[in-house]
Amino acid sequence: MVNLYTPCLSINEKGYLAISGCDAVELARQYGTPLYVMSEDEIRRVCRSYVESFQNFYGGNGRPIYASKAFSCKEMCRIVTSEGLDVEVVSGGELYTALEAGVSGKHIHFQGNNKSCSELAFAVDSAVGNIVVDNLQELRRLDRIAGEKGAVQPVSLRVKPGIDAHTHEFIRTGQVDSKFGLDLASGEAFQAAKLAVQAEHLRLIGLHCHIGSQIMEKEPFVHAAEVMLGLLRQIKEELGLELDHLNLGGGFGIHYKETDDFIPYNEYMEAVSAKIHEKCAAFGLKLPQIYIEPGRSIAGEAGITLYTVGAIKEIPGVRNYVSIDGGMFENPRYALYQADYTCLLANKASQPADYIATIAGKCCESGDLIQEHTPVQRPEEGDILAVLSTGAYNYSMSSNYNRNLRPPCVMVREGQSRVVIKGETYQDLIRNDM
Ligand code: LLP
Repeated sequence: MVNLYTPCLSINEKGYLAISGCDAVELARQYGTPLYVMSEDEIRRVCRSYVESFQNFYGGNGRPIYASKAFSCKEMCRIVTSEGLDVEVVSGGELYTALEAGVSGKHIHFQGNNKSCSELAFAVDSAVGNIVVDNLQELRRLDRIAGEKGAVQPVSLRVKPGIDAHTHEFIRTGQVDSKFGLDLASGEAFQAAKLAVQAEHLRLIGLHCHIGSQIMEKEPFVHAAEVMLGLLRQIKEELGLELDHLNLGGGFGIHYKETDDFIPYNEYMEAVSAKIHEKCAAFGLKLPQIYIEPGRSIAGEAGITLYTVGAIKEIPGVRNYVSIDGGMFENPRYALYQADYTCLLANKASQPADYIATIAGKCCESGDLIQEHTPVQRPEEGDILAVLSTGAYNYSMSSNYNRNLRPPCVMVREGQSRVVIKGETYQDLIRNDM
């Protein structure tokens, strides 16, 4: 039997998969498949654990920011902000979504390595509280745009701290070769701070870094904090400005498989906080407000996707293709990254997973697979397949490839379900066709 590693998942009295007390087979019947299902209980549980860890280990001096690229829709923005999180956006579209959800500009942080002039102007007009400037050209461009609008725009700087979180050494390697941010080692980041301080229409409020995604250990974050405090110190000593805002980015790992092993989120905060206290005392700095930017860890395990099993092709000595009514258009992560997932048949959840399947999507593309050689219960046409941990970077990375329709998304909470994103229709597909 599969281990349901997320607290919102269970097996009910019928032996079916349940999420937040809702029977997954019943959800599939009621709303159709493919179907994205998100647990509001789980989203709120993770948000609270982040907020609590800020309270417990850093006196509440700062806050988590939800990286909305993981899963952006109006209801998600409302849920995370009601838990006290800010929202990070990386495009005019994510900014628009957050604003339409009622998030105030001052709680929005705008990231991105190549924001367009119109996106920057939109952000200034919307009184976005923090535009994270990625490069020197953007710094000048934003100063000009803010000037034209008679505004003084609060900004922080995206810094490349030179830490590669995905090597065991996590030090000074590939990160210099990154399209994101201002290089620390060459002095580019300090140069940007100097220019930002001089810029008439910008107000430098802080620094930002983001060292990777699906990181399982705490050491890279602690090291990043240490490196960034060195820059805060240099800015204080050489520019006479003590910045109060340090954003250490997102990237906290989640379960895709039962065996994924990452440290509990509050342990990151505990370790980072200890390092910040130590270094601030040593450098004579006041404690900055700390921000972190989790996306995947808030939305990821809260989501599952439900499908109906169609054709099954058993090719002796090769593999068993189990076809579903979704595919790379609604979850491109296996096709893109060979990402791991846990699959099970929701209507046979209590049966042994003793069949090895390759889950195939319906797109005209051989690489349109969701998982290869994965154990599931013995499948038959009409079964409901559930793929776990699909809440992050699934809907947000979906497309209409082959003119397939994006599925609806249903939010479940304490046994109740509601649609938060309607499924697309054929009319939606031709809406912009001339
Ligand atoms: N902050 C910044 C500046 C980021 O670039 C990212 C992710 C995050 C926060 C949130 O990171 P998270 O906590 O979600 O790991 N499409 C890929 C993931 C790309 C992540 C890009 N940046 C995937 O499906 O795995």
